Amino acid sequence: MADRLYIGIDLGTYQSTIASSAGTIHTIETVVGRPKDPVARNMLGRDVLFGADALKHKMSCDLFRPMAKGVTQDDEASLGAAKAFMTHLIETVDPEEYDEVVGVVCSPSHVSFTDKSNLVATLRGQVNAIMVVSEPFATAYGIGEFHGTIVVDIGAGTTDIARLYGTFPSDEDQISLAEAGDWLDEHLMTLIRKKYTGAQVTKDMVRRWKEAHSYVGGEVKEVLVDLSVEGKQQRVDIGDLIAQACGAIVPLIGNGIKRIIAGADPEYQETFRQNIILSGGGSLIGGVADRLAAEISDIGNVAVRCVDEPIDKVALGAVALAQDMPEDMFTSIE
Ligand SMILES: Nc1ncnc2c1ncn2[C@@H]1O[C@H](COP(=O)(O)OP(=O)(O)OP(=O)(O)O)[C@@H](O)[C@H]1O
Ligand SMILES: [Mg+2]
Repeated sequence: MADRLYIGIDLGTYQSTIASSAGTIHTIETVVGRPKDPVARNMLGRDVLFGADALKHKMSCDLFRPMAKGVTQDDEASLGAAKAFMTHLIETVDPEEYDEVVGVVCSPSHVSFTDKSNLVATLRGQVNAIMVVSEPFATAYGIGEFHGTIVVDIGAGTTDIARLYGTFPSDEDQISLAEAGDWLDEHLMTLIRKKYTGAQVTKDMVRRWKEAHSYVGGEVKEVLVDLSVEGKQQRVDIGDLIAQACGAIVPLIGNGIKRIIAGADPEYQETFRQNIILSGGGSLIGGVADRLAAEISDIGNVAVRCVDEPIDKVALGAVALAQDMPEDMFTSIE
C-alpha cells in the first residue's frame, strides 16, 4: 500500500475534474439525480445518479446542481447532494489504496466563507487535509506561469481574473464577474426567442449549439439548427446570433482585465499587459483571444493567448500544488 495520494479537484458550477498524483484524471458534470419516487427507484435500480447518467434520466429524477449559483448551501438536500457528488468524484481515483489523501480544491468563487466550512464537511472521511485555492492561481501554477501573469478563467458561473506576482494572490489581486458561460447561454436564448417568435428551446440545447459553433469576430457564419416553433419542426440559421452573444461578453471581460491591470503595481503593468492567459471552457470560443486583445488595445501593446486543454488545467495545477506545498499550508480534517 502506497502511503499518500495527492489529489487536485476543480469543483465547477457546470463540471468538475479530479486529477491524482497516480496520473489519473476524470471530468464529471456537477449534477446529482435522485429517483423521484419508488417506481423510478425500482426502474433505475439505484438511489443516486451522477453526471451524464443523471441527465440521461432527468425525467425520472430530481436533479441537483450542488455548485450552482444561488444555491443555499445550507439546505439539507443540496448539502447531501454535494457530499454524494464529492464522494463519487474522489472514488474515481481509488483512494482506498492509500493510507492518506491530501488535496487542493478549487471551489467556485461565489462559494463564500460559510460555504467553505460546508466544503470541509463534504470532504470529511475522504480526505485527510485540504487547501483551497482559486482557479486562476491553480491554472497558472500548473503551467509554471505565475510570475507577472494575468489569468482569466472563463467558467460557467463566473469569470475569475487574477494578477499573479509569483506568490499566492491576495483577495485584492482577484476579481470575479457574473458574466461567463451561463450568462452567454441566457443571452443567446433571448436572442433566439426574439428572432424566432414561439421557438421552444431549453438552456441545454442552447449550450450545446454554443459549444459546437461559438466564435467571435470575422465573417458571419451560417449555423443551421433544428428547433420547434409551437410544436412544428423548423431549421433556422443562428450563426449571426452566436456571434452577437459571444461578442457581447468580450467588453465585459475586457473591462475586468483593464481594472485588474490598472490596480496593479505600476512597475508590473507592462509585464501584465504582455502576459494575459485565458482558461476555462469559455476560452474555447473561436477567436476570443484576438477579439479580447483588440478590445483592450487602448491600454497599450497587449498579448492575449489561450491555454491548451483548458478543462483539465485547473485540476492538474491543483494536484501539482498539493504535491509541492509544505504540510503547514494544509488544514487537516478530523
Ligand atoms: N467550445 C466552447 N465554446 C464556448 N463555450 C464553451 C465551449 N466548451 C465549453 N464551453 C462552456 O464553458 C463552460 C464550462 O467551463 P468550465 O468547465 O471551465 O466551467 P466550470 O468550472 O464548471 O464553471 P465555474 O468555474 O464558473 O464554476 C460552460 O458554460 C460551457 O458551455
Ligand atoms: Mg471552473
